[in-house]
Amino acid sequence: MTLLGIDIGGTGIKGAPVDVETGALLAERFRIPTPQPSLPNAVADVVGQIAEHFKYKGPTGVTFPAVVKKGIIYSAANVDPSWIGTDANALFAAHIDGPVEVVNDADAAGIAEMRFGAGRDRDGVVILLTLGTGIGSAIFLNGKLLPNTEFGHLKIRGKDAEKRASEKVREDKDLTWKAWSAHLSEFLGELERLFSPDLFIIGGGASKKSAKFLPFLTTKTEVLIVPAEMHNEAGIIGAAYLAKHLVAPAQ
Ligand code: BGC
Repeated sequence: MTLLGIDIGGTGIKGAPVDVETGALLAERFRIPTPQPSLPNAVADVVGQIAEHFKYKGPTGVTFPAVVKKGIIYSAANVDPSWIGTDANALFAAHIDGPVEVVNDADAAGIAEMRFGAGRDRDGVVILLTLGTGIGSAIFLNGKLLPNTEFGHLKIRGKDAEKRASEKVREDKDLTWKAWSAHLSEFLGELERLFSPDLFIIGGGASKKSAKFLPFLTTKTEVLIVPAEMHNEAGIIGAAYLAKHLVAPAQ
């Protein structure tokens, strides 16, 4: 079965048709820069253009970088505050000829990694983190997701973890890899104390340069880094996979 997956990020909105049985992209990703400011109608126009590009009509999965319940947006850490309270399922469906399921971006990436990637066949407690503009999180017990965790907003030394250990902070503050790794280790250490995970999976912009920070991590838990290429696609794949329930049963 082929469904469209769209991943909304702070800088780009990307989509592709996905084979939801295998997790394979069936065409090259199409990307449009995220409108600034990222107001709901402007973003919805771009979502419509991506469906149009693939001449796609039908059930679509869309990621969003916020808490999302039944399509309603409940937070706006890195997007325009006017999103709060928006019914994103209905808004996007008005721009795509088909029903839409909107889910948190890290949850979608986590689902893709657990079904088709680094977390395949991994039982126990797995925590996926995306280190990008913010920090996204997804936690799984025996492959089952607890949705909408926001570990990037755990307070570490009085500050949100994502304000200390995201890829953006490393770049903006020009931190050395060693200094940034110390922040990341502290964050992972806190998660270890709280959840005793069996595995951390790390994706996002930072994963490209894992050789520079893995050696500095003091974490006791196993850490797997998702290659950046795969991570770029994980949101699209997970979103499409989570939209499967929108497909009408065959008559
Ligand atoms: C948001 C999360 C999101 C993460 C990654 C955080 O600031 O609160 O919902 O998953 O950024 O985009």
